[in-house]
Amino acid sequence: MAAEPDCLLKSVNSSASDPHQSVKIQPGPVKTHEKAVTSKSTDSARYQREHPPGESGRVLKPVNSRPSCPELTAPVKPGSGKVQQKTTTSSESARKKWTLEDFDIGRPLGKGKFGNVYLAREKSTKYVVALKVLFKSQLQKAGVEHQLRREIEIQSHLSHPHILRLFQYFQDKTRVYLVLEYAPKGELYKELMKNTRFDERRTATYMYQMTSALKYCHSKKVIHRDIKPENLLLGLTGDLKIADFGWSVHAPSSRRTTLCGTLDYLPPEMIEGKLHDEKVDIWSLGVLCYEFLVGKPPFEAESNADTYRRITKVDLQFPRHVSEPAKNLVSQLLKHDPNQRLSLDKVLEHPWIKENRLPSTS
Ligand code: ADE
Repeated sequence: MAAEPDCLLKSVNSSASDPHQSVKIQPGPVKTHEKAVTSKSTDSARYQREHPPGESGRVLKPVNSRPSCPELTAPVKPGSGKVQQKTTTSSESARKKWTLEDFDIGRPLGKGKFGNVYLAREKSTKYVVALKVLFKSQLQKAGVEHQLRREIEIQSHLSHPHILRLFQYFQDKTRVYLVLEYAPKGELYKELMKNTRFDERRTATYMYQMTSALKYCHSKKVIHRDIKPENLLLGLTGDLKIADFGWSVHAPSSRRTTLCGTLDYLPPEMIEGKLHDEKVDIWSLGVLCYEFLVGKPPFEAESNADTYRRITKVDLQFPRHVSEPAKNLVSQLLKHDPNQRLSLDKVLEHPWIKENRLPSTS
Protein backbone atom coordinates (compact mmCIF):
# COMPACT_ATOMS: atom_id res chain seq x y z
CA MET A 1 0.00 0.00 0.00
CA ALA A 2 1.48 3.27 -1.04
CA ALA A 3 -0.09 5.54 1.53
CA GLU A 4 -0.79 5.45 5.25
CA PRO A 5 -4.26 6.72 6.16
CA ASP A 6 -2.64 9.83 7.60
CA CYS A 7 -1.06 10.86 4.35
CA LEU A 8 -3.91 9.68 2.21
CA LEU A 9 -5.26 12.45 0.00
CA LYS A 10 -2.17 14.59 0.60
CA SER A 11 -1.73 14.68 -3.13
CA VAL A 12 -5.15 16.26 -3.58
CA ASN A 13 -3.79 19.78 -3.71
CA SER A 14 -0.97 19.02 -6.05
CA SER A 15 -2.89 16.95 -8.58
CA ALA A 16 -4.76 18.46 -11.44
CA SER A 17 -7.77 16.43 -10.47
CA ASP A 18 -10.36 16.35 -13.13
CA PRO A 19 -12.66 13.40 -12.61
CA HIS A 20 -13.95 13.59 -16.15
CA GLN A 21 -10.53 13.41 -17.69
CA SER A 22 -9.54 10.17 -15.97
CA VAL A 23 -10.02 6.55 -16.97
CA LYS A 24 -13.68 5.64 -17.32
CA ILE A 25 -14.94 2.80 -15.17
CA GLN A 26 -16.60 0.44 -17.59
CA PRO A 27 -19.44 -1.46 -15.98
CA GLY A 28 -19.89 -4.96 -17.29
CA PRO A 29 -17.58 -7.93 -16.96
CA VAL A 30 -18.28 -8.89 -13.36
CA LYS A 31 -21.94 -9.53 -14.03
CA THR A 32 -21.49 -13.24 -14.55
CA HIS A 33 -19.54 -13.53 -11.32
CA GLU A 34 -22.19 -11.75 -9.36
CA LYS A 35 -24.23 -14.83 -10.19
CA ALA A 36 -21.35 -16.88 -8.85
CA VAL A 37 -21.61 -15.09 -5.54
CA THR A 38 -25.31 -15.62 -5.17
CA SER A 39 -25.38 -19.12 -6.60
CA LYS A 40 -24.81 -21.73 -3.91
CA SER A 41 -23.33 -24.20 -6.37
CA THR A 42 -20.17 -22.43 -7.55
CA ASP A 43 -16.73 -22.79 -6.02
CA SER A 44 -16.27 -19.04 -5.89
CA ALA A 45 -19.49 -18.59 -3.93
CA ARG A 46 -18.69 -21.43 -1.59
CA TYR A 47 -15.17 -20.16 -1.09
CA GLN A 48 -16.32 -16.66 -0.21
CA ARG A 49 -18.90 -17.99 2.22
CA GLU A 50 -16.61 -20.48 3.93
CA HIS A 51 -13.55 -18.23 4.05
CA PRO A 52 -14.68 -14.78 5.08
CA PRO A 53 -11.60 -12.59 4.85
CA GLY A 54 -12.29 -11.29 8.34
CA GLU A 55 -11.76 -14.74 9.82
CA SER A 56 -8.00 -14.74 9.71
CA GLY A 57 -7.15 -11.17 8.92
CA ARG A 58 -6.44 -12.41 5.39
CA VAL A 59 -7.06 -9.76 2.83
CA LEU A 60 -8.19 -10.67 -0.65
CA LYS A 61 -6.06 -13.76 -0.95
CA PRO A 62 -8.46 -16.67 -0.92
CA VAL A 63 -6.65 -18.85 -3.43
CA ASN A 64 -3.06 -17.90 -4.16
CA SER A 65 -1.16 -16.39 -1.32
CA ARG A 66 -1.23 -12.66 -1.76
CA PRO A 67 0.46 -10.51 0.82
CA SER A 68 -1.94 -8.68 3.08
CA CYS A 69 -1.59 -5.05 3.94
CA PRO A 70 -0.23 -4.48 7.47
CA GLU A 71 -1.73 -1.00 7.63
CA LEU A 72 -5.15 -2.55 7.35
CA THR A 73 -4.62 -5.47 9.68
CA ALA A 74 -2.79 -3.79 12.56
CA PRO A 75 -5.02 -3.02 15.56
CA VAL A 76 -6.22 0.50 16.26
CA LYS A 77 -4.79 1.90 19.48
CA PRO A 78 -7.98 2.57 21.50
CA GLY A 79 -8.64 6.24 21.89
CA SER A 80 -5.60 7.37 19.96
CA GLY A 81 -7.29 7.69 16.60
CA LYS A 82 -3.97 6.61 15.11
CA VAL A 83 -2.93 3.45 13.37
CA GLN A 84 -0.33 1.59 15.42
CA GLN A 85 3.25 1.57 14.26
CA LYS A 86 3.44 -1.24 11.75
CA THR A 87 6.01 -3.97 12.21
CA THR A 88 8.27 -4.77 9.30
CA THR A 89 7.72 -8.28 8.01
CA SER A 90 9.38 -10.31 5.31
CA SER A 91 6.22 -10.00 3.23
CA GLU A 92 6.43 -6.22 3.38
CA SER A 93 8.79 -5.86 0.47
CA ALA A 94 6.44 -8.06 -1.52
CA ARG A 95 3.45 -5.98 -0.44
CA LYS A 96 0.94 -5.49 -3.18
CA LYS A 97 0.29 -1.99 -4.43
CA TRP A 98 -3.30 -2.19 -5.53
CA THR A 99 -4.54 -0.33 -8.59
CA LEU A 100 -7.75 -0.21 -10.58
CA GLU A 101 -6.09 -2.56 -13.07
CA ASP A 102 -6.35 -5.37 -10.51
CA PHE A 103 -10.14 -5.41 -10.80
CA ASP A 104 -12.82 -6.21 -13.33
CA ILE A 105 -15.58 -3.69 -12.80
CA GLY A 106 -19.25 -4.63 -12.93
CA ARG A 107 -22.60 -2.94 -12.43
CA PRO A 108 -23.09 0.05 -10.15
CA LEU A 109 -24.39 -1.03 -6.74
CA GLY A 110 -25.11 2.38 -5.30
CA LYS A 111 -24.70 6.10 -5.74
CA GLY A 112 -23.09 8.37 -3.18
CA LYS A 113 -22.43 12.08 -2.77
CA PHE A 114 -18.73 11.69 -3.57
CA GLY A 115 -18.82 8.80 -6.03
CA ASN A 116 -20.36 5.42 -6.71
CA VAL A 117 -20.02 1.84 -5.56
CA TYR A 118 -19.46 -0.87 -8.19
CA LEU A 119 -19.52 -4.61 -8.12
CA ALA A 120 -15.94 -5.68 -8.83
CA ARG A 121 -13.78 -8.78 -8.96
CA GLU A 122 -10.12 -8.99 -8.11
CA LYS A 123 -8.56 -10.50 -11.23
CA SER A 124 -6.06 -12.98 -9.82
CA THR A 125 -8.16 -14.44 -6.99
CA LYS A 126 -11.59 -13.88 -8.58
CA TYR A 127 -12.67 -12.47 -5.24
CA VAL A 128 -15.91 -10.53 -5.61
CA VAL A 129 -16.02 -7.22 -3.76
CA ALA A 130 -17.78 -3.85 -3.79
CA LEU A 131 -15.50 -1.05 -4.99
CA LYS A 132 -16.35 2.38 -3.64
CA VAL A 133 -14.91 5.09 -5.86
CA LEU A 134 -14.60 8.57 -4.37
CA PHE A 135 -13.50 11.65 -6.28
CA LYS A 136 -10.79 13.61 -4.46
CA SER A 137 -11.96 16.90 -5.96
CA GLN A 138 -15.44 16.41 -4.48
CA LEU A 139 -14.13 15.30 -1.08
CA GLN A 140 -11.87 18.32 -0.99
CA LYS A 141 -14.63 20.71 -2.03
CA ALA A 142 -16.83 19.45 0.81
CA GLY A 143 -13.86 19.50 3.24
CA VAL A 144 -14.42 15.90 4.33
CA GLU A 145 -10.99 14.35 3.70
CA HIS A 146 -10.56 13.92 7.48
CA GLN A 147 -13.83 11.98 7.60
CA LEU A 148 -12.64 9.62 4.88
CA ARG A 149 -9.32 9.11 6.66
CA ARG A 150 -11.20 8.25 9.83
CA GLU A 151 -13.64 5.98 7.99
CA ILE A 152 -10.70 4.02 6.56
CA GLU A 153 -8.80 3.86 9.80
CA ILE A 154 -11.79 2.75 11.82
CA GLN A 155 -13.61 0.41 9.42
CA SER A 156 -10.46 -1.42 8.34
CA HIS A 157 -9.82 -2.47 11.93
CA LEU A 158 -13.30 -3.79 12.62
CA SER A 159 -14.14 -7.42 12.04
CA HIS A 160 -17.63 -8.56 12.99
CA PRO A 161 -20.32 -10.57 11.14
CA HIS A 162 -22.66 -7.56 11.14
CA ILE A 163 -20.15 -4.91 10.09
CA LEU A 164 -19.20 -4.54 6.43
CA ARG A 165 -15.51 -5.34 6.00
CA LEU A 166 -13.14 -2.82 4.46
CA PHE A 167 -10.39 -4.97 2.97
CA GLN A 168 -8.15 -2.44 1.28
CA TYR A 169 -7.91 1.05 -0.05
CA PHE A 170 -5.80 2.64 -2.74
CA GLN A 171 -5.75 5.84 -4.71
CA ASP A 172 -4.73 7.37 -7.98
CA LYS A 173 -4.38 11.00 -8.97
CA THR A 174 -8.07 11.82 -8.91
CA ARG A 175 -9.80 9.12 -6.90
CA VAL A 176 -9.72 7.09 -3.70
CA TYR A 177 -10.93 3.49 -3.88
CA LEU A 178 -12.30 1.47 -0.98
CA VAL A 179 -12.35 -2.30 -1.48
CA LEU A 180 -15.36 -3.40 0.53
CA GLU A 181 -17.17 -6.64 1.32
CA TYR A 182 -19.94 -7.24 -1.19
CA ALA A 183 -23.37 -7.51 0.44
CA PRO A 184 -25.41 -9.49 -2.15
CA LYS A 185 -28.87 -8.57 -0.85
CA GLY A 186 -28.14 -4.86 -1.16
CA GLU A 187 -29.48 -1.82 0.60
CA LEU A 188 -31.81 -2.32 3.54
CA TYR A 189 -33.72 0.91 3.03
CA LYS A 190 -34.93 -0.40 -0.34
CA GLU A 191 -36.33 -3.47 1.42
CA LEU A 192 -38.05 -1.19 3.90
CA MET A 193 -39.55 0.91 1.09
CA LYS A 194 -40.73 -2.25 -0.67
CA ASN A 195 -42.37 -3.61 2.49
CA THR A 196 -43.46 -0.22 3.96
CA ARG A 197 -42.60 -1.62 7.39
CA PHE A 198 -41.19 -4.82 8.87
CA ASP A 199 -43.01 -7.24 11.16
CA GLU A 200 -41.90 -7.67 14.75
CA ARG A 201 -39.90 -10.85 14.06
CA ARG A 202 -37.84 -9.25 11.34
CA THR A 203 -37.38 -6.05 13.34
CA ALA A 204 -36.28 -7.93 16.47
CA THR A 205 -33.81 -9.95 14.39
CA TYR A 206 -32.25 -6.82 12.87
CA MET A 207 -32.23 -5.15 16.29
CA TYR A 208 -30.33 -8.07 17.79
CA GLN A 209 -27.76 -7.99 14.99
CA MET A 210 -27.39 -4.19 15.18
CA THR A 211 -26.97 -4.34 18.95
CA SER A 212 -24.33 -7.03 18.78
CA ALA A 213 -22.38 -5.01 16.14
CA LEU A 214 -22.66 -1.79 18.17
CA LYS A 215 -21.52 -3.60 21.32
CA TYR A 216 -18.42 -4.65 19.42
CA CYS A 217 -17.78 -1.08 18.15
CA HIS A 218 -18.30 0.42 21.60
CA SER A 219 -15.91 -2.11 23.16
CA LYS A 220 -13.29 -0.49 20.90
CA LYS A 221 -14.48 3.00 21.84
CA VAL A 222 -15.77 3.51 18.31
CA ILE A 223 -19.08 5.33 17.93
CA HIS A 224 -20.84 5.16 14.56
CA ARG A 225 -23.00 8.32 14.87
CA ASP A 226 -24.87 7.75 11.62
CA ILE A 227 -27.08 4.74 12.16
CA LYS A 228 -30.00 4.85 9.69
CA PRO A 229 -31.51 2.45 7.13
CA GLU A 230 -29.51 4.05 4.27
CA ASN A 231 -26.27 2.94 5.94
CA LEU A 232 -27.27 -0.70 6.34
CA LEU A 233 -26.75 -3.52 3.85
CA LEU A 234 -27.90 -7.13 3.66
CA GLY A 235 -25.59 -10.13 3.31
CA LEU A 236 -26.22 -13.31 1.36
CA THR A 237 -28.47 -14.81 4.04
CA GLY A 238 -30.30 -11.53 4.64
CA ASP A 239 -28.20 -10.71 7.69
CA LEU A 240 -27.63 -7.07 8.44
CA LYS A 241 -24.28 -5.33 7.87
CA ILE A 242 -23.47 -1.87 9.20
CA ALA A 243 -21.74 0.13 6.46
CA ASP A 244 -20.49 3.67 6.00
CA PHE A 245 -18.31 4.72 8.91
CA GLY A 246 -17.88 8.24 7.51
CA TRP A 247 -19.23 9.86 10.68
CA SER A 248 -17.63 7.48 13.14
CA VAL A 249 -15.19 8.67 15.81
CA HIS A 250 -13.51 7.54 18.98
CA ALA A 251 -15.55 8.46 22.09
CA PRO A 252 -15.94 10.92 23.71
CA SER A 253 -16.34 13.51 21.00
CA SER A 254 -17.73 16.91 20.20
CA ARG A 255 -19.14 17.61 16.77
CA ARG A 256 -17.01 19.96 14.70
CA THR A 257 -18.35 19.14 11.27
CA THR A 258 -21.56 20.81 10.14
CA LEU A 259 -24.57 18.54 10.22
CA CYS A 260 -26.12 17.96 6.84
CA GLY A 261 -29.05 15.85 5.74
CA THR A 262 -31.80 14.61 7.98
CA LEU A 263 -31.91 15.29 11.72
CA ASP A 264 -34.27 12.36 12.21
CA TYR A 265 -31.71 9.99 13.71
CA LEU A 266 -29.74 12.43 15.83
CA PRO A 267 -30.01 12.43 19.62
CA PRO A 268 -30.69 15.67 21.54
CA GLU A 269 -27.07 15.98 22.74
CA MET A 270 -25.75 15.86 19.17
CA ILE A 271 -28.12 18.36 17.58
CA GLU A 272 -27.39 20.67 20.50
CA GLY A 273 -23.64 20.34 19.71
CA LYS A 274 -22.79 18.94 23.16
CA LEU A 275 -19.99 16.58 24.09
CA HIS A 276 -21.31 13.10 23.44
CA ASP A 277 -20.31 9.47 23.76
CA GLU A 278 -21.32 6.01 22.55
CA LYS A 279 -24.84 6.48 23.94
CA VAL A 280 -25.70 8.47 20.79
CA ASP A 281 -25.83 5.13 18.93
CA ILE A 282 -28.30 3.77 21.51
CA TRP A 283 -30.66 6.65 20.73
CA SER A 284 -30.31 5.98 16.97
CA LEU A 285 -31.03 2.30 17.62
CA GLY A 286 -34.35 3.36 19.15
CA VAL A 287 -35.14 5.55 16.13
CA LEU A 288 -34.23 2.67 13.82
CA CYS A 289 -36.43 0.19 15.70
CA TYR A 290 -39.35 2.61 15.47
CA GLU A 291 -38.81 3.16 11.74
CA PHE A 292 -38.64 -0.60 11.07
CA LEU A 293 -41.93 -1.15 12.92
CA VAL A 294 -43.80 1.92 11.70
CA GLY A 295 -42.26 2.74 8.30
CA LYS A 296 -41.13 6.27 9.18
CA PRO A 297 -38.89 7.76 11.87
CA PRO A 298 -40.57 8.86 15.13
CA PHE A 299 -39.81 12.59 15.04
CA GLU A 300 -40.46 13.22 11.35
CA ALA A 301 -41.90 16.69 10.72
CA GLU A 302 -42.49 19.25 7.96
CA SER A 303 -39.38 21.26 8.75
CA ASN A 304 -35.99 20.72 10.40
CA ALA A 305 -37.03 23.16 13.13
CA ASP A 306 -40.07 21.03 13.95
CA THR A 307 -38.03 17.81 13.92
CA TYR A 308 -35.56 19.52 16.25
CA ARG A 309 -38.38 20.46 18.64
CA ARG A 310 -39.88 16.98 18.59
CA ILE A 311 -36.47 15.38 19.30
CA THR A 312 -35.59 17.65 22.21
CA LYS A 313 -39.05 17.14 23.75
CA VAL A 314 -38.91 13.38 22.94
CA ASP A 315 -42.37 13.71 21.42
CA LEU A 316 -42.90 9.98 20.88
CA GLN A 317 -46.20 8.48 19.68
CA PHE A 318 -46.87 4.95 18.46
CA PRO A 319 -49.51 3.72 16.03
CA ARG A 320 -51.91 1.15 17.50
CA HIS A 321 -50.39 -1.84 15.71
CA VAL A 322 -47.11 -1.67 17.69
CA SER A 323 -47.13 -4.19 20.55
CA GLU A 324 -46.63 -3.13 24.19
CA PRO A 325 -43.28 -4.97 24.59
CA ALA A 326 -41.92 -3.35 21.39
CA LYS A 327 -43.07 0.08 22.62
CA ASN A 328 -41.38 -0.66 25.93
CA LEU A 329 -38.04 -1.29 24.23
CA VAL A 330 -38.19 1.79 21.97
CA SER A 331 -39.24 4.04 24.86
CA GLN A 332 -36.31 2.84 26.95
CA LEU A 333 -33.87 3.62 24.13
CA LEU A 334 -35.29 7.08 23.37
CA LYS A 335 -34.49 8.76 26.69
CA HIS A 336 -33.36 12.38 26.62
CA ASP A 337 -30.76 11.72 29.31
CA PRO A 338 -28.09 9.49 27.71
CA ASN A 339 -27.42 7.80 31.07
CA GLN A 340 -31.05 6.69 31.30
CA ARG A 341 -30.93 4.81 27.97
CA LEU A 342 -31.05 1.02 28.11
CA SER A 343 -27.60 -0.58 27.86
CA LEU A 344 -26.79 -2.72 24.81
CA ASP A 345 -26.49 -5.78 27.07
CA LYS A 346 -30.03 -5.17 28.28
CA VAL A 347 -31.28 -4.75 24.69
CA LEU A 348 -29.96 -8.24 23.89
CA GLU A 349 -31.76 -9.54 26.97
CA HIS A 350 -35.02 -7.63 26.40
CA PRO A 351 -38.01 -10.06 26.46
CA TRP A 352 -39.40 -8.74 23.15
CA ILE A 353 -36.02 -9.32 21.42
CA LYS A 354 -35.61 -12.78 22.95
CA GLU A 355 -39.11 -13.87 21.98
CA ASN A 356 -39.14 -12.52 18.46
CA ARG A 357 -35.65 -12.69 17.01
CA LEU A 358 -34.84 -15.45 14.55
CA PRO A 359 -31.64 -17.50 15.01
CA SER A 360 -28.54 -16.07 13.38
CA THR A 361 -27.70 -17.25 9.86
CA SER A 362 -24.25 -15.68 9.56
N1 ADE B 1 -24.29 -0.84 -2.23
C1 ADE B 1 -23.42 -0.02 -1.65
N2 ADE B 1 -22.42 -0.70 -1.11
C2 ADE B 1 -22.65 -2.02 -1.33
C3 ADE B 1 -21.98 -3.23 -0.99
N3 ADE B 1 -20.85 -3.20 -0.30
N4 ADE B 1 -22.53 -4.39 -1.36
C4 ADE B 1 -23.67 -4.37 -2.02
N5 ADE B 1 -24.36 -3.28 -2.38
C5 ADE B 1 -23.84 -2.11 -2.03
